[in-house]
Amino acid sequence: MNETSIPSGRPHRSPYGRGHHLRRASHSGGRLVVRGKERLSDNVVLLRLGDPEGRPLPGWSPGSHIDVVLPNGLVRPYSLCGDTTDRDEWRLLIGRETESRGGSAFVHDRLDRGDHLDYLGPRCRFRLRGAGRYLFLAGGLGIAPLIPMARLVAASHLPWSMVVVGPEADVAPITAMLTDLLPRITLLPTGEDARPDLTAPLTGLDPGTAIYACGSDRFVDAVEQISSRSGLTVNRQLFTAGTPRGGDDKPVELVLARSGLTFTVQAGTSLATGLRQLGVRVPVSCGAGICGACLVKVVAGVPDHRDRLLSTEQRGRGDSILTCVSRAHTPRLVLDL
Ligand code: FES
Repeated sequence: MNETSIPSGRPHRSPYGRGHHLRRASHSGGRLVVRGKERLSDNVVLLRLGDPEGRPLPGWSPGSHIDVVLPNGLVRPYSLCGDTTDRDEWRLLIGRETESRGGSAFVHDRLDRGDHLDYLGPRCRFRLRGAGRYLFLAGGLGIAPLIPMARLVAASHLPWSMVVVGPEADVAPITAMLTDLLPRITLLPTGEDARPDLTAPLTGLDPGTAIYACGSDRFVDAVEQISSRSGLTVNRQLFTAGTPRGGDDKPVELVLARSGLTFTVQAGTSLATGLRQLGVRVPVSCGAGICGACLVKVVAGVPDHRDRLLSTEQRGRGDSILTCVSRAHTPRLVLDL
């Protein structure tokens, strides 16, 4: 769906339904060609991607991402940051991760114009909801999904502002490209001597303000902590996760409700890996519990949620699980597979 207006603030749909949609959608996708790779700083590149045959690309809404299947076999989720009305070209901002597991390093060092990539999606787990005014908070490249959101809000003539926190060398070239949005963007540079305080932008907000934050887990945690003092909730998306809780893993017996298969995933092996070893394919992208690609519906049993994506409400319902990091409180889980 190509979104031209902001959806009203209806309650979230059931994670069952969203999970189902996600799993089906995650199998959609196709092939892309790299039309351009622009280096914005030592750590940031802008990729321009199109259909190899010049056909229109699928529509997407602000906050969507695609799972890119890199030629080295790694799958990585990246937010779409371009224009939602542009069916000819997608844009991705990709930072070089200091502890790259091979994804961002490949994009920075080896991917070139003319190369082909497979992708899954687009999928949206970071949806813009109706509100009276908006505050967008970006930690570094967390600005990517917030750009199309801000454009949609601006087009709707609603009040908004954006605060971008990060190394000036990396974020200034990005904001400089956003000439249409620039007057409402505040840059708070980080560095050895600069540790910006997020308290000021999050103080005195109108109660009707919707806060959207995207960045590292530490950045988003800080935003949530400050916002909670004023009773404001944060719509969040992480692009890095802390180390998932582990060490107390126990074997989990998995029952696949549709096929009747039963098997045990040993401690130290993720449920997604256990499923894959049995030949059951569950899409895995981030592998860190932050993108939603590996979500599976739970029919019975109690999940031990270790992700950073599901809401408190979704966790309480216990009817879905992110199989790349989460486990089970009960010895057995029955999955809708
Ligand atoms: S693969 Fe991203 S949440 Fe599991």
